[in-house]
Amino acid sequence: MTDPDDLDLLARLTAGADMQTTHRDPEHHVRALRLVDGPMGVTGGLLDERDVSLLAPSGTALAATFNRATVEAVGELLGEQAAARGVDVLLGPNLNLSRSPAGGRNFEHFGEDPYLAGVLGAAWITGVQSKGVGACAKHLVCNDTETGRHGYDVQIDEQTLHEVYLAPFAAAARAGVWAMMAAYNKVNGQHCAEHPGLLTRVLREQWDWDGVVMSDWFGTHSTTASLTAGLDLEMPGPARHLGPAAAAAVRAGDVPASTVQRAIEHLALLSHRTAGRTAPTRPPAETRRLLHEAAADSFVLLKNDHTILPLAGDTSVAVIGPNADEPAYQGGTFARIALGPEVRTPLTALREALGPRVTAHEPGAPSESRVPSLLPLGPRATDSPGDPGFTVTFHRVDTDGAVSEPLATDTRATGILVWFTELPGIGALADLPPGSSGLVRVSCLLTPETDGTYDFHFAGTGDLRLLIDGQETGRGGSRALPADVMGALLHGDVTRIPVSLTAGRQVRIDFEMSFTGGGRAQGMQFGARAAVPADLAERAVRAARVADTAIVFAGVSQDSSLESQDRDSLALPAAQTDLIEQVCAANPSTVVVVNAPFAVDMPWAERAAAVLLTWFPGQEYGPALADVLTGALEPGGRLPITLARADTDHAVTATGPSDDGRLTYTEGVLTGYRHFDAQRITPRFCFGHGLGYANLRWRAAHLHTDPTGRYLALAGVTLSSGTGRGGKEVVQVYAVPLTPTGATEPGRPEQHLVGFTTVHVPPAPAQPRIDIPLHVRDFSVWDPRTGSWRPRAGRWEIRLARSSRDVFHRFRVYVDEDGKLRTGPNS
Ligand code: BGC
Repeated sequence: MTDPDDLDLLARLTAGADMQTTHRDPEHHVRALRLVDGPMGVTGGLLDERDVSLLAPSGTALAATFNRATVEAVGELLGEQAAARGVDVLLGPNLNLSRSPAGGRNFEHFGEDPYLAGVLGAAWITGVQSKGVGACAKHLVCNDTETGRHGYDVQIDEQTLHEVYLAPFAAAARAGVWAMMAAYNKVNGQHCAEHPGLLTRVLREQWDWDGVVMSDWFGTHSTTASLTAGLDLEMPGPARHLGPAAAAAVRAGDVPASTVQRAIEHLALLSHRTAGRTAPTRPPAETRRLLHEAAADSFVLLKNDHTILPLAGDTSVAVIGPNADEPAYQGGTFARIALGPEVRTPLTALREALGPRVTAHEPGAPSESRVPSLLPLGPRATDSPGDPGFTVTFHRVDTDGAVSEPLATDTRATGILVWFTELPGIGALADLPPGSSGLVRVSCLLTPETDGTYDFHFAGTGDLRLLIDGQETGRGGSRALPADVMGALLHGDVTRIPVSLTAGRQVRIDFEMSFTGGGRAQGMQFGARAAVPADLAERAVRAARVADTAIVFAGVSQDSSLESQDRDSLALPAAQTDLIEQVCAANPSTVVVVNAPFAVDMPWAERAAAVLLTWFPGQEYGPALADVLTGALEPGGRLPITLARADTDHAVTATGPSDDGRLTYTEGVLTGYRHFDAQRITPRFCFGHGLGYANLRWRAAHLHTDPTGRYLALAGVTLSSGTGRGGKEVVQVYAVPLTPTGATEPGRPEQHLVGFTTVHVPPAPAQPRIDIPLHVRDFSVWDPRTGSWRPRAGRWEIRLARSSRDVFHRFRVYVDEDGKLRTGPNS
């Protein structure tokens, strides 16, 4: 590459063109690639309600299926959707681990265990890529919590890094993922996007991986260091550190031309791989059935006293709790998906399934959404009063404070508006002259159905005002946008203003936000809800008392899981905890459905007859839940995380970095259930736990070496159903390194997951026998002295188990230095 023009052309390709696309250069076989956020669905470029798409169960829900086939099928569906929308790379899966239950983005993770996350992450990747769309494993590495994600510097030892946090990415590389995203944070002193140890030594040399490595959005910090470390692509565009700056670095002799060339080779390969993407569309009913079954497959039945579930045919049911008709289908990140009108809430679906057997519906406690939606109150756009929603107008404000006529007008039906780099009519944020500002006005007409106080909420990146019938009623906002643009928009301070409204009397409402120029983005959120009546809980308890069964729909709200912010408590809102306690006291046949994607406290679990954990289950939540409650489908899930009795039982709850910016992984490899094992703490519900509806029997445990030599061994059992009902079983295999004294090796896990399989056991007399392959690498340790894996030679126990704490059978074996297994009396 001696031609200077060629250098400019090639260097240009190393940075994105805009938020979602890269540059093209047919001569070097690089197409303009479209990179779009996942992982719960395929987001559009608009990030708003006009971009309806399918919403699949979140990562934790998919992990709970313990089912490769389900996860791969969901991946295929998303790949199809992405291909149909002209997307080249879907930005997922998120292969960080739920190191702490407080992690803001835990819902995207495949739980707390590296083996499970690796196997199921790989299944998702295989599914997506089978449609010719690239997956992008993110965020390499140790972006396991969100608070301070842009700056924190993870201090981690090599063994923990390889055995735990890199392991899911290694599985992704083995599955042939076409792209990876470097995390925002630093690892041992270096930003991931300029970390030669990660981007070159691990990805290229150890894993021999040939995909594209891109930065997280606005996560590139340098030119020479990033290129030299092995970063191929700065995202998003326009270029800041790579692109033209890469050509300049080559000319200055700071970076060899071959480095840029190598990045282009990776991009050309990705271009080639995604060129053949195919988009056959399947019938909507089939699509929904798949999402419906995947959701049911993820629900974890934690307890089921007196087999209260499935509901008996004649039971009357009181539906209680805020999440029955305001469920949380997904998290509140930028990867949020706009849902179509066909989506049914659990309340609607249960009413359809049970008819008059649903005797009451009482929310019992307010939904905790940060900014409640105004849409259920029926706002009408002011410009076109027949239309539901809001009129949004865009103005400029000159230095004297004079507001222009609308420069652009829109009608929208949403409670959140976000603009990157420019706004309609106002133009580029960078071009707003000093002293002047932009102004967005969101207006609607509202005719309340009931008298009373309504709580108006608003938040945003500028100065905000609320006007009722032209009168200023409240002010708020005005936050400077910190460096973490993507995260900060969604969790600024919210202003709440109570307003008295009269039934039948129309009012005009304006939310206004003004802002000055510069910055990369602006956004605002707004909404209102009727003030909460004082007797909400009492009414719920009365309804619960007279029904055969009470089902309490507890959980978090859609905006509870955020980028760049962890949770500060694992508790459900106090009003919900009180409600559950009161309903359990009023009706012993109470089922609690917890709609939360991470570990929440369940201090009431002993008092509830049944507890069902439903995560962020995607758009088919309602129908899937109705089917599981009535027994038409099995609750198929097993816990991919540990649920503790007390917050302090977890290895890590305080997630932020220390004052010097360091985030030290002091627990080493003892994360998740490994910590509970090491500390001898009994969890409330352990990793791998989950009940089904069938009475399944295990027998004839077996373990044998693999005649093909491909695997270390094969382990399994024979299963049968003791009743006429078939069901799902998840057979789990844990490996336990044994020492001569019987003690656990210091600092090492007592046991770790090395295999699992999902079996659908048909009704008797069928007796499927299953074999689970075990790999040498899962009986190996990372040796920091040699920088490589080696089999841990010595005695091992292999446990066939229903969960990490419910062991069916133990085999004693010996693994030698060459990774060969010996069984029998001398092992
Ligand atoms: C997130 C990534 C995401 C990217 C693009 C970032 O803030 O961390 O997961 O893919 O934005 O939307």
